Amino acid sequence: MSSIENVSIFYIMKLFYLTFILFFLSCTYNEYTVGCIDSSAINFNSSATVDDGSCIYETIECTTLDEFPRYELCIQQIFSESCVGCHQYGNANGGLQLSTYDQIREAVINNDVLNRIVLDDNNPLLMPQGNKLSDLQIYLIQQWVSNGALND
Ligand code: HEC
Repeated sequence: MSSIENVSIFYIMKLFYLTFILFFLSCTYNEYTVGCIDSSAINFNSSATVDDGSCIYETIECTTLDEFPRYELCIQQIFSESCVGCHQYGNANGGLQLSTYDQIREAVINNDVLNRIVLDDNNPLLMPQGNKLSDLQIYLIQQWVSNGALND
């Protein structure tokens, strides 16, 4: 093997080595710069400069007096937690199902859902029976209905 060949192999090795170091450094660098860059998110990363779509927001839906509660994020959840158990296909008490948006919309518009949820605790007609919704939940349902009971 000539000394020229030895030298070029040395240079090639060196190039590989440098490339590896640069690659490693760029990965390490990236780890510190990508993250959630929205300061209103709960996992805001102040040292991040590139958003990686990982932002997580505290959900305020259904926990505050929202004038425009949304069906998908709030209302549906109240009905599925408090009503569906007794008002679904195969167990439709009073002949009423409250599983889907269409059923719920129909019920709030044509049935007395709004009247039945505001009755006194000891009234046998109260819905859910003997287990009144919270004032907040009742308010949110009332708001949703008065805003048109939209599938939003
Ligand atoms: C533990 C079971 C149970 C739960 C939970 C429940 N219901 Fe009922 N519901 C019944 C029964 C039984 C009837 C039929 C007797 C009656 O009309 O009181 C009924 C009847 C109704 C009716 C009258 C239907 C009609 O057309 O006559 C409405 C409206 C109603 N429920 C709404 C609701 C809503 C809204 C919820 C949730 C917020 C709910 N119910 C939760 C058992 C339940």
